[in-house]
Amino acid sequence: MILFALAAAAWHWLLQDIVPVYQIKGISKLFKLCLPKVQCFCDSLTSPPSERQFNALLMSVASLLANYDYTGAQPGEPCNNCVNASDRCLCDFTFNITEFFPAPVFMYYELSDFYQNHYRYMISRDENQLSGDLDSLKNPANECAPYRVDSGQKPIAPCGAVANSMFNDVLTLFYNENGTFVEVPLNGKGISWWTDYNIKFRNPENGNQSLTDLFKGTSKPQNWLTEVWNLSSDPFNTGFINEDFLVWMRSAALPTFRKLYRRIESGNFTDGLRAGEYQLRIQYNFHVLSFNGRKKIVFSTVSWMGGKNPFLGIAYLVFGSLCTVFAIIMLIVFLKYQGKMDEDI
Ligand SMILES: *[C@@H]1O[C@H](CO)[C@@H](O)[C@H](O)[C@H]1NC(C)=O
Ligand SMILES: *[C@@H]1O[C@H](CO)[C@@H](O)[C@H](O)[C@H]1NC(C)=O
Ligand SMILES: *[C@@H]1O[C@H](CO)[C@@H](O)[C@H](O)[C@H]1NC(C)=O
Ligand SMILES: *[C@@H]1O[C@H](CO)[C@@H](O)[C@H](O)[C@H]1NC(C)=O
Ligand SMILES: *[C@@H]1O[C@H](CO)[C@@H](O)[C@H](O)[C@H]1NC(C)=O
Ligand SMILES: *[C@@H]1O[C@H](CO)[C@@H](O)[C@H](O)[C@H]1NC(C)=O
Repeated sequence: MILFALAAAAWHWLLQDIVPVYQIKGISKLFKLCLPKVQCFCDSLTSPPSERQFNALLMSVASLLANYDYTGAQPGEPCNNCVNASDRCLCDFTFNITEFFPAPVFMYYELSDFYQNHYRYMISRDENQLSGDLDSLKNPANECAPYRVDSGQKPIAPCGAVANSMFNDVLTLFYNENGTFVEVPLNGKGISWWTDYNIKFRNPENGNQSLTDLFKGTSKPQNWLTEVWNLSSDPFNTGFINEDFLVWMRSAALPTFRKLYRRIESGNFTDGLRAGEYQLRIQYNFHVLSFNGRKKIVFSTVSWMGGKNPFLGIAYLVFGSLCTVFAIIMLIVFLKYQGKMDEDI
């Protein structure tokens, strides 16, 4: 009972206070706010949420600020010329942003009716291969079938249905500055989970062999347009640790999901996205109409459960550990107390 109450209180407190404050003002602000007076931790447990907190909570959930469907499903819509095209069809999608988006702005892609949560789909991957194991690289797990080996019996790396279906549209954004389109710098680093990038996924290594050599003898997933070692020119963002790949490999729980694509926070857009006309240039590679899906691009100022949000994970871990510790204490107390009871009787 006490455990449950504690967990509930902790959860309540976490949701009410820390998460929104962190997401909107940043964790440093939280520390500045709370460390000098630990009091505020306790207050928040006993007093009802203030209006500011409530608004913050609402904002953190209702983070959708602007989204644009660029599937081109209907004739006459932008990108309709690409729906039946083969590889690397280019199309432009122009839209207006009506209000200023303060930085950091998160750019997501949203897919509808894509069942990443299907069991057979979810298990179609080889964790050993993705962790850099050299044997699994050349001999992927059976779960990957039918995306285990290609038609020439060459092993596929990364194998499996999840990797094969990776979102591979290439999006670039331009801002109309007095009639000329200037490119908006998009940052693709730091969009994946810290644990995925640093621990779970590793590139194969063998002496000082290059990544290209290591992947020799393997085949790229059949739907991909690029080799896995050529996903990016940045050596810390290619192969199995390419962040777009990591974001994709973290399976979404719902059939309509949003995944972090880029962050906008640098160059002339350090302050954020100005209101005005924008053009999205799409290299249309990812076909969704075959399963009646839709693709959207979403701009949001709040990172909500998408991509880089290590804080929530850490919070789960901390509270999980606390609960375990309390459980052990309770067990000890219970055992001792039980002994006393027996003696009393
Ligand atoms: C694409 O192919 C489908 C089915 O073949 C057809 O119904 C549709 O009109 C085509 N769309 C375009 C833009 O060519
Ligand atoms: C964006 O706004 C400008 C000025 O109001 C207008 O001329 C233009 O047609 C709009 N573009 C789109 C794609 O709606
Ligand atoms: C665009 O026009 C605005 C208003 O006329 C002006 O303040 C700004 O300096 C111009 N920007 C460039 C790059 O010319
Ligand atoms: C690394 O490469 C150099 C030159 O290609 C080679 O001489 C050296 O033996 C290699 N070291 C290892 C550990 O493979
Ligand atoms: C690697 O990727 C670049 C850019 O996408 C492309 O131009 C190049 O041809 C690719 N190299 C190989 C060997 O596929
Ligand atoms: C910012 O915009 C100005 C005017 O359009 C341009 O001259 C400058 O190169 C831009 N700076 C960056 C870092 O893109």
